[in-house]
Amino acid sequence: MRRTYTCNELTLKNIGEDVVLNGWVHSKRDHGSLIFIDLRDRYGLTQIVFNPETNKNIYMQAKELRSEYVLEIHGKVETRPQESLNNAIKTGEIEVEVKDLIVLNKSKTTPFEISEDNEIKEELRLTYRYLDLRKKKLQNNFILRSKVNQITRNFLYNNDFLEIETPILMKSTPEGARDFLVPSRNHPGKFYALPQSPQTYKQLLMIAGFDQYFQIVKCFRDEDLRKDRQPEFTQIDIEMSFVEVDDVIDMASKLICEIFEKSIGYKIKLPIEEISYKEAFERFGNDKPDLRIPFEIVTLNELFKNSEFMVFKETIKNKGSIAGIKIKGGVSFTRKKIDLMIEDAKNKGAKGLAYLKFKDGNFETGISKFLSSDEKDSLKRKFELDDGDLLLLVADSYNVVYPILGEIRLEIANELNLINENEYNFLWVVDFPLLEFSEEENRFVARHHPFTQPKLYSENIFDESPENIIAKAYDLVLNGNEIAGGSIRIHQKKLQERMFEILKISKKEAEQKFGFLLNALQYGAPPHGGIAFGLDRLIMLLTKAKSIRDVIAFPKTNSAYSLMEGAPSYVVDNQINDLHLKLKNI
Ligand code: AMO
Ligand code: AMP
Repeated sequence: MRRTYTCNELTLKNIGEDVVLNGWVHSKRDHGSLIFIDLRDRYGLTQIVFNPETNKNIYMQAKELRSEYVLEIHGKVETRPQESLNNAIKTGEIEVEVKDLIVLNKSKTTPFEISEDNEIKEELRLTYRYLDLRKKKLQNNFILRSKVNQITRNFLYNNDFLEIETPILMKSTPEGARDFLVPSRNHPGKFYALPQSPQTYKQLLMIAGFDQYFQIVKCFRDEDLRKDRQPEFTQIDIEMSFVEVDDVIDMASKLICEIFEKSIGYKIKLPIEEISYKEAFERFGNDKPDLRIPFEIVTLNELFKNSEFMVFKETIKNKGSIAGIKIKGGVSFTRKKIDLMIEDAKNKGAKGLAYLKFKDGNFETGISKFLSSDEKDSLKRKFELDDGDLLLLVADSYNVVYPILGEIRLEIANELNLINENEYNFLWVVDFPLLEFSEEENRFVARHHPFTQPKLYSENIFDESPENIIAKAYDLVLNGNEIAGGSIRIHQKKLQERMFEILKISKKEAEQKFGFLLNALQYGAPPHGGIAFGLDRLIMLLTKAKSIRDVIAFPKTNSAYSLMEGAPSYVVDNQINDLHLKLKNI
């Protein structure tokens, strides 16, 4: 017989009804005279009771039931006795007295309790992922994830976006990370690559005239993993024709608004604040600032322009930067703690970290003896200092000072619990540099990707200071995480060729790798641009999960290994032969 209700439906309205339920034994309490079981399915729990007085036989069978057995029960809905009412769950006022019991399947003792929320080693959780996924907390993540997919599809479809699938087996066209390669059987010696994103395909769809595209799509990147990175992850990928930066930002803001409101009932205030990359860098030390932290980096070059303190004087002379942060109440930091911070700053690449304690209206210790009274007065005003505040200052080159203070800012905020975990803080970072010099490769690389438009285009744009060119690129940041990124694309063949040139991609290489795109740009490519949301990261933040792995059904470990089925794995020689490959001795 089919179940007549789920385990989260029965209430006082159903008293007296004969029902059929399916579910797993979540917990069992044997009171001697009665046996109680919480029966669980993905919807919730229902208490079922076995009473020897009404049915001795079934009661005896119930004695044998263990955790995680799968049951079908037939029974009658009854009110719970006053003392066992449970307001925490929907079915808390009823119980089902079992009249018939069918054990659909038994279960071995599980390697960890499903019903308890204790800390279990992640290796064990990942090995028995299907059991871990039975837990309420994880199930809720996937229920929300499914909801977000539906909201996204509805919103975009209703706004005239077409959902179009793009290939998983594609041409290797490096986009920044390393490609995953798939050897071809039909074409000896050749390889497909798995897409790092559908970037070139979505541009081609615009050239094809589809106008507005989206896809909820898997992307693959062979890169070092962290708590917010997986080798395969999902994007909400979007592309639009005849748009400028503001149009994409506007549309993506509306989408994120819709997602937050309809999934967790959180109203985002529009418009979302926008700041330039430069400002983000100088105020927060990175391109994904967490604005929930109530203090920021302050630049002090002007204040110290005539400083007699050698460190600052030299820095000003060398056109470096001097900047600092204020830690409220930081005077209580011990000498040892401050020494550790100095050591840490040096490990991060700073030449030093200066500090000043502000007590009883005066500066104490640290570098206070090197500063003039004018400088001290200016510092007091600039930082609006109160008794008990601690200042940390770094002087070095521009590219060293801000990231280091940015990291210290994050660490201190975490240490002192200064972050309001209930707040969602959104921010658009715009006006990114187009290029970035890679010391390692001794060439410029694209900061976003090589298809991004410069903000102001002229024929000789690349002739001087390529590092100063601003891109039409934008990132959406949520609580210090980059949750989406995109740009307006190059739609002129000539400019795209110039861009490859600047990136030191030879004409031949460009033709080999991107010939199809360069070709397509010649046939009436419309102006276009787009964005991609990192869906896993977004869900991680929505559910307040600690790791991206908690919102991916079957995730990989930090070494890109799947513990459950054991992937990657060796394959038989025949498979290797078919692919025309030979393995090195490993
Ligand atoms: P980008 O590389 O910025 O842009 O990726 C877009 C978003 O995807 C998420 N993301 C990841 N999430 C989990 N694991 C990873 N390894 C990972 N890498 C990226 C981030 C990021 O903001 N084609 C362009 C988009 C465009 O220009 O339209 C692209 O892929 O949240
Ligand atoms: P010194 O004159 O080298 O003894 O440095 C005096 C103080 O300035 C010490 O507290 C150093 O930690 C600090 N200091 C040295 N170099 C820097 C720097 N580049 N930025 C900030 N503080 C520094």
